[in-house]
Amino acid sequence: MKIAISGTPGTGKTEVSKELSKILNYTYIDLNELIEKGGLVEGFDSKRKSKIVDTKKLEKLEIPDNSVIDGHLSHFIPVDLVIILRTRPNILKKRLENKGWNSSKVQENVDAEILGICSSEAEDNGQKFVEIDTTDKNPREIAELIKEMIESNKFDTEEIDWLEDYSEMLGD
Ligand SMILES: Nc1ncnc2c1ncn2[C@@H]1O[C@H](COP(=O)(O)OP(=O)(O)OP(=O)(O)O)[C@@H](O)[C@H]1O
Ligand SMILES: [Mg+2]
Repeated sequence: MKIAISGTPGTGKTEVSKELSKILNYTYIDLNELIEKGGLVEGFDSKRKSKIVDTKKLEKLEIPDNSVIDGHLSHFIPVDLVIILRTRPNILKKRLENKGWNSSKVQENVDAEILGICSSEAEDNGQKFVEIDTTDKNPREIAELIKEMIESNKFDTEEIDWLEDYSEMLGD
């Protein structure tokens, strides 16, 4: 099985992916590294200080079976299951500030989380996806939850919509 772990930066993808690959005995794949090495970087957006990636190329990427792929664009890759990690925006904001990110980058990502950008992209792309709220769970618990879903073949998603409670946190 191929599993993508996606979500806004700071939602815990890397920690969860590493735990999950360990408990399933799957290969851990860092999508950012794959993008760099695979020459998938199209340019650099200097204003947003981020790489420009052609998502159409990601849609054609082949990853090995029995792997967990970690990255905020992993929901574009053909996989069997997409997990989207979500985090309450006020908590996410603190995690991103702790990374030392500047305020505009923090705001951009808090906005993306409030609006559920990863989930809507996965949906538009026709991917089967499950959302998990990571706010009050640790990475180990989240990995166990995903393992249970796979073993029981039950993929119940949480319905997460931060917009109603956190619209005042949106930037302009
Ligand atoms: N479930 C959690 N509860 C509390 N803190 C967490 C949780 N998951 C991750 N963290 C912390 O939040 C920070 C971001 O986690 P992590 O680097 O795994 O996120 P990420 O989604 O991989 O981010 P990026 O997209 O920037 O790589 C880290 O400091 C991590 O220790
Ligand atoms: Mg990461």
